[in-house]
Amino acid sequence: MRTHYCTDVTENNIGETVTVAGWVNSRRDHGGLIFIDLRDKDGLVQLVCDPNEEGSKEAWEIADKVRDEFVLIVTGKVRARGEGLENPRLKTGKIEIVVNTLIIENKSKAMPFELGDEKVNEEIRLKNRFLELRTEKSYNIFKLRSKVGIAARNTLDSLGFLDVETPILTKSTPEGARDYLVPSRVHGGEFYALPQSPQLFKQLLMVSGFDRYYQIAKCFRDEDLRADRQPEFTQIDVEMSFCNQEDVMAVAEELIVNIFKAAGHDIPKKFNRMTFNDAMEIYGSDKPDMRFAMPMVEVSDIFANSTNEIFRSIASDTKKNRIKALRCPNGDNIFSKRQMKSFEDFVRKFGASGLGYFQMKEDGLKGPLTKFFSESDLEEIVKRTELVVGDVVFFGAGDKKTVWDYMGRFRLFLAREMDIIPNDTFEFLWVVDFPMFEVENGRTKALHHPFTMPKSLENLDDLEDISSIAYDIVLNGTELGGGSIRIHKQDIQAKVFEIMGISDEEAREKFGFLLDALEFGAPPHGGFALGFDRLIMLLARTDSIRDVIAFPKTQKAQCLLTKAPSEVDSEQLKELSIRIRKQD
Ligand code: AMO
Repeated sequence: MRTHYCTDVTENNIGETVTVAGWVNSRRDHGGLIFIDLRDKDGLVQLVCDPNEEGSKEAWEIADKVRDEFVLIVTGKVRARGEGLENPRLKTGKIEIVVNTLIIENKSKAMPFELGDEKVNEEIRLKNRFLELRTEKSYNIFKLRSKVGIAARNTLDSLGFLDVETPILTKSTPEGARDYLVPSRVHGGEFYALPQSPQLFKQLLMVSGFDRYYQIAKCFRDEDLRADRQPEFTQIDVEMSFCNQEDVMAVAEELIVNIFKAAGHDIPKKFNRMTFNDAMEIYGSDKPDMRFAMPMVEVSDIFANSTNEIFRSIASDTKKNRIKALRCPNGDNIFSKRQMKSFEDFVRKFGASGLGYFQMKEDGLKGPLTKFFSESDLEEIVKRTELVVGDVVFFGAGDKKTVWDYMGRFRLFLAREMDIIPNDTFEFLWVVDFPMFEVENGRTKALHHPFTMPKSLENLDDLEDISSIAYDIVLNGTELGGGSIRIHKQDIQAKVFEIMGISDEEAREKFGFLLDALEFGAPPHGGFALGFDRLIMLLARTDSIRDVIAFPKTQKAQCLLTKAPSEVDSEQLKELSIRIRKQD
């Protein structure tokens, strides 16, 4: 239908007759002349309808009826815009098309919101997502997403990885979230689970001898949603055989470097590394944002000398507790005393019982807590936290996991309040040596998943001290991906299940197929998965994962466009042997 896309018509086409097609972005009537900005996927071109131009009267009459978002097919002659009428912001800003024939291919109702108006509430935008996707911002995100997918495929293909699809109707694998279940019609009362990831299938492909697998895979997890979480999301999923952690990391780095190159960014070929333990001790997070410093410093030994009973008692158990100091550079000049006090409310939400602070003044540390410390200990605090005049230092004391968590969050909170986080850099970090297990309320869970290789199972005194060969890729404080070397020996796998309190019977019932496969020559193997949506979100520098998914779900896991989930016919339920119990 068209000879050119709108933005392909430039000064090189002056004098030519062209046909363009698209949507009316805007229409202006200037005393007889009608100007229309016509939009297609890439951008705008200006049309001008002039009743005095030869053969253009009819087109001008039709143009009078045109409204925003009508679909037009237009033929006309390209001419240079008049002196001073050029628009340097548009690729087509030097020309306009003098319309000769104008066809209204379709009309449009008045728009429910103005395209590109970011203040419109999300409910309206998501209900009309197909309209929101008309914006340049959205289209650019999906162009980027497509390009990144191709770069990922090309890189993995060149490294010898084979793209293999794995089932969507399957049996659940434990990745820590609830499963989405699909009832079976043929086997009434039985259910498939949608995969939380292709984890076990990719391991089976290694047992099959495929050596290198990848897939851009859909995953489903019924979990609480956040700005960077969707119930249905995509992973770039990778697995390889006869490899160690270094081999897997090298593939992940090459993949990410190529992806960023395709998106126009040169990043370092190797990423820094930090152990899980250091990440928690220094940044209070297993996904530290490395775009700014603000490390936390342990000061239990200094607080042990204080005259405050509570601090002394916390400081006396260094296995269980921590006292962390967080220097806030120039904080005394940025925040009022009232603000500093209010920060306590922030940390209390995450389990803190209080938040102490000292201000660094010309004549030394000031604050209500100083009375508990000797002069030399106050000096030691200044030295250890590298305080300079104008700084504030905050303290968190208590159970180590709680302190890590709230001080880690507080570090981010302060940095955001002070607006010191650069938003134009990409800071990657490998977090390595994750603990194998997490013990919560007496229950032992695998921190990554139970197929992760432990470093050693010799000493089982403290399960939380056992490390695994697991690693996460963190970008700007977001967990971009994670992976591990897997258990490839049946006896180790059985031992891990036993530690987790999973009986032989339960393990057989849930993962019998994996245990069987491990007995038929499973090679050493490992891999990783990158969150594809999160990757695009970070590359596109948007703060919501919903922006990078064509038809996303809300925070409440609904699709407002199709109104899913929805009730179904009673006939359908009957066929599936399902009866709905009304909740009162
Ligand atoms: P993991 O559970 O760490 O590992 O997931 C890998 C990456 O997937 C992304 N991700 C999500 N993105 C959006 N919404 C979600 N709900 C969501 N959940 C996870 C994150 C995360 O880092 N099978 C293992 C990988 C392996 O060991 O090879 C796995 O799924 O970016």
